[in-house]
Formats: sequence, structure tokens, C-alpha cells
Amino acid sequence: MPDSPIVPALWISLFEREDQPGLPLRERVCAALRGAIRRGELAQGARLPSTRMLAADLAISRVTAEAAYAQLEAEGYVTRRVGHGTVVSIASPGWQPAPPMTGIDTSATLSRRGAAIVATGGCQDPLVPRAFCAGSPDLRAFPVETWRQITARQLRRHGAALMGYGDPQGYAPLRDAIAGYLAQSRGVRCDRDQVVVLTSSQQALQLLAMLLLDPGDTVHIEEPGYVGARNAFGSAGAQLEPIPVDAEGMSLPSQAARLTYLTPSHQYPTGATLSLARRLALLEQAQRDGGWIIEDDYDSEFRYDARPLPAMQGLDRHGRVIYLGTFSKVLFPSLRLAYAVLPPALVEAVVKARTVMDGHSAQLAQAVTAEFIAHGHFARHLRQMRLLYGSRRALLLERLEAARLDWLRPQPGAGGLQLAAHLPPGREAALTRQAGARGIATPSLSALFMGADKQDGWLLGFAALQNEDIIDAVARLAS
Ligand SMILES: Cc1ncc(COP(=O)(O)O)c(C=O)c1O
Repeated sequence: MPDSPIVPALWISLFEREDQPGLPLRERVCAALRGAIRRGELAQGARLPSTRMLAADLAISRVTAEAAYAQLEAEGYVTRRVGHGTVVSIASPGWQPAPPMTGIDTSATLSRRGAAIVATGGCQDPLVPRAFCAGSPDLRAFPVETWRQITARQLRRHGAALMGYGDPQGYAPLRDAIAGYLAQSRGVRCDRDQVVVLTSSQQALQLLAMLLLDPGDTVHIEEPGYVGARNAFGSAGAQLEPIPVDAEGMSLPSQAARLTYLTPSHQYPTGATLSLARRLALLEQAQRDGGWIIEDDYDSEFRYDARPLPAMQGLDRHGRVIYLGTFSKVLFPSLRLAYAVLPPALVEAVVKARTVMDGHSAQLAQAVTAEFIAHGHFARHLRQMRLLYGSRRALLLERLEAARLDWLRPQPGAGGLQLAAHLPPGREAALTRQAGARGIATPSLSALFMGADKQDGWLLGFAALQNEDIIDAVARLAS
């Protein structure tokens, strides 16, 4: 016979002690209970309060209480039977949590390639945007209802077909939509047979590194530059050569490397635009020396003062440029859709390699994105976001100027979701600590330099912040 329910006082204190406020409410309740069961504080057979009592004691809704118990039942921690209530179903005396990871012994367990990947430190984007996390679009402004309607329509029309394995190159209507959009708005010359749909630009970089680079091959990357690219090429064993960036974008190296990675439309992170003269010279070099160029056009849609220069790919007459774009910034990051436009000679190899990696991208997401573009919602959303982000960027610059922070020098590029700002040499670490103590995230600029000649500074993300967040965050920086 099960025990009588645990008393509210015990239950409430348990919840308060174990509470993890960052989690959704249902998960907070589950986490508190799981912990108590694992530690043996709630023994096998202990009866939990009814959902009505639980809801009243914790001032939560009955629906949340019900959902929490259902989750614990699905995980096997409790059983629920009519007339018996909810009862702890496992005994775990002496259960101990796994010891915290103290680092990975790469020499003992990983391949050389694996060790190189771990040594890069990986890439992690912020899970919850707050001032001034960089690189996040404003997801509150996304037309969720339109997305929901298109999703329902696609499922109604093509449900079963979208649930099977898909074309590793990408869903054909999406490839059509991407090729049309790029030709029209970015001057990219391609047809749908050159487009490969992938889960992210990062996957594209990793795939291209695997396919095009042998250990020791030279790769030119911008200095400062994108860490995701550095990590992908570095973990393939490439020899990375940082090439300085100035107001005209990446400088011209004396000869082409096996591969050159750059962000010509809106250099990451300085915001510079690669001049036409340098574009032509780099293409000429790549043709002469047999190098590949990866053009990462990650955020050129967000240009606030003028139209961006057309993509470098449109100037390429010899099939040396691989063009990358992502939907992470223009739609939403969790969509996990990006694309590569490949010279025809590389298409088959990339598609084959893709089958070895993850097969294909989710078909339903591709079908919904294709309709979203084809029916004009994409163009509308971009127009609105350009206005919204442009006004936030202007507000940030205006507030920074009004605050007269003589130690912080913003370097506004022509667009983007964040801007670089310079700090006096040697001050980045201390100022970052002080900003952190005031609840402000200030991603590091110096971390984006590979060489010894680093510049101290921050990246200040503005696109995902409401006006009041920007005003408040600048005031806190000023204090
Ligand atoms: C230069 C650059 N390329 C690509 C990306 C990310 O794209 P994805 O989410 O598709 O990997 C970022 C993200 O911040 C970026 O800064």
C-alpha cells in the first residue's frame, strides 16, 4: 500500500531548494522531483500530492502540474493509477551524480583529427539573446502565424512525401527559390543544379574543409575573422595564414592559397566592404594559382544605408568561387537551413560527401521555406527587418555618442546585426569583467584575431534588442 502523500511543507521546501529558475516551469517541477528521487529523499512507493494540491501549493496551473507528472511518468520515475495517485516507482538509495567532467584526455581517446577539433574550443552561439550578444536576429518580429499556415498547408498537400528520405542536394522547389532570389538580389550566377541545401554555413565549411584540404594546405583567412571558419579549416589540419583587413576589406596576398575564406560584402567583424579592385585581383589570383575562394555572404541582406555590392561569385568567370548563404539570420537560427552555390565541377563531390555526413536537411522545413520565399513573405520580412534593425543600430550609435564614452570607439560598418567597437589597448579583459558585473555581455573582438597583433574591443549586437534594452544597456556601460 503506498504511503500517504508527502506533506506540502516538505514538498515546497524541496522545490525551493532545487529550483532552477532559468528553465520552463514544467521542467523546474520535474527537475526538483527527479533530484529528490535520485538522492533517495523520495523513496520508492512515496505518494506525491495530487495535481490539484501541487498546483495550489506551488501557485502553478493545474495544466503545468499535470504536464510535469506526465513527463516524469514517461521517464519512468513515477507511476500513476486511478485511485492510487502518483507514486515514486524507482528506488535509488545512494545514487550519486556522475562526477563533473574535468576535461577530455585527447591523447588517450581521440584521433588526431578529433583532438584537433576539440583543440579549436568549438563554436557556441548564445542561447538567450541579451545586450549585447552578437549575431542574433529578433525572433519576436518573425511572422510565426504565416509560418504556421504554410506549414499546415504543406503537410496537407505533401504530408507523406515530406516525411521520407529527401534529395541530399536539397528539395528542388527550395533550390529553385534560392537560385531565383540570389540572381535577383545578389547578382549570383547559378541555376538550381549548382545549389546544395545544407543545415548551416558551419556544415558547409566543415564539408568543404574535408573535401578540399589536405593537412598542411594553406588557407588564407581574414584577420580579424570568423572563428567558425578558422575552426573548420584548422581541424582539417590546414595551415592558416591570417591576412590583415583594412577599410577596403582583406588585403591582397602575394599569391593565392589552396583556399581563401572571406566575407566580402560585410567583413566579419569589422563591417568593411571588399573593394572591386581587390575582388578582381583575388579572382585573377585564384584562376592563375588554382585556388578556391569561399565567399561567406552571411548577412548582406542587412544593409541600411545603400544596396550591397553584388556578390563576388557573379564576377567569377572560371568557376573558382563557392558562395555560401544562411537562413539563420534572415529567418531564424533553429531552422537549420543554409546553402552553397558551387562551381559545377564540385557539385557531385559535395553532394556525395553530404550523404556521408547527415543525408539531407529536414524536408518539411525546406518545403515551408520554399513557399515562404516563392509567395513573397521572405522579401516582405527582409524589408521590415531592415527597417527595424536599421533603427536600432542608429539608436545604439546615438546613445553611445550621447554617453561620451571616451574609452569606447564604435566602428559602424554599412549593415549587419552587430558592430565592432574598439577599446584602449590592454583594457578589454578588465572592462569586460566590469560590464559583466553590470549584467552586460560584450563579446570579445581580440578573440577574433589569430596573430599576436590583436586589437582590444567588443562586438555589440543590437538587432535582437528592444529600444529600451539598448538605452538601459548603454546607461549601464556608462556607469
Ligand atoms: C561570418 C558568419 N558566417 C556564418 C555564420 C553562421 O551561420 P550558420 O548558423 O548557418 O552556421 C555566422 C554566425 O554568426 C557568421 O558570423
